[in-house]
Amino acid sequence: MKYDTIRWKNDKVEMIDQRLLPAKTTYVSCRTDKDIYSAIKTMIIRGAPAIGVAGAYGVYLGVRRSRAKDWKGLKKDVDKTVKYLAGSRPTARNLFWALERMQGIVNDNKGRKVTELKKILLDEAHRVLAEDKKICRVIGDNGASLIPKGANVLTHCNAGALATGGYGTALGVIFSARRKIKRVYADETRPRLQGARLTAWELAAEGIPVTLICDNMAASLMAKKEIDAIIVGADRIASNGDTANKIGTYNLAVAAHYHKIPFYVAAPASTFDLSTSNGKKIPIEERSGLEVKKIGAEYIAPKNISVINPAFDVTPAKLITAIITEKGIIRKPNRKKVLGAIGGD
Ligand code: MRU
Repeated sequence: MKYDTIRWKNDKVEMIDQRLLPAKTTYVSCRTDKDIYSAIKTMIIRGAPAIGVAGAYGVYLGVRRSRAKDWKGLKKDVDKTVKYLAGSRPTARNLFWALERMQGIVNDNKGRKVTELKKILLDEAHRVLAEDKKICRVIGDNGASLIPKGANVLTHCNAGALATGGYGTALGVIFSARRKIKRVYADETRPRLQGARLTAWELAAEGIPVTLICDNMAASLMAKKEIDAIIVGADRIASNGDTANKIGTYNLAVAAHYHKIPFYVAAPASTFDLSTSNGKKIPIEERSGLEVKKIGAEYIAPKNISVINPAFDVTPAKLITAIITEKGIIRKPNRKKVLGAIGGD
């Protein structure tokens, strides 16, 4: 990849401003936990694993100037920062996973000096980022085996390098299988257009043939036998395999089932929420109605019209052909298989 989604540079976090892509490639600097909170909330950074990485750095930034005198004091500050960052976006499991991991590292280092603990936290955030990049490669390589030669693949939203520490999950599979892929169809993904702005940009930059479509064109392409496989990312996967992902994913899964097209989800273990038994219990973010009523600065609907804007929907496990993870492929996912593959760490 020719860009970093998120990086540590000169004592601060830098992230590519995803709101401005593809028109401008600008990096935003985050020096405090407040900067990270607002970057996540306003979607300067988005995509479940990338939000997790940002959250991990946010915990360090939140306590780096802490005046705590001992382990207990610093732990209190970490817990406060975690609580604050957890309020930025509710659906992506990876954010909470990363925040819990940062709390865990403090608990594991009970009794250490405050200066040491701060360094441990920064090192742990670096590790979260480095591991995510590696995990995406493994997911990509695992999933590549599922893609037939000469395939046309459809994807939704953006589950690429921009949505992760690098490389991507669903797009990671596409990158790893690039020699077998004839064309990728990218849903534009209303209302925030991550497919048009980010996925189309990423694939074109990598030289992968990509055709942009409006979301409402997907089923008709399936009917014309133009699509051989659908592959998407995930924000949270319940223990029975039900999967929350960008709104519109469920439509695709239903249409894929009808047309007998394989429907794949690619996600790291950190996206699984084994304490949530099924998709109905996954918290779904409701975003501002202005995202639906406006495109850019322009209203495209009457200003006072009523709208809803759930950012995610849930695809039931029974519509998913397989979930591709770094721990292997979970075919026809159900609770037993998910717990077998992901449980226990
Ligand atoms: O609202 P977003 O852009 O954060 O939503 C992102 C998605 O739904 C992605 O598909 C998901 O996070 C997987 S990213 C590898």
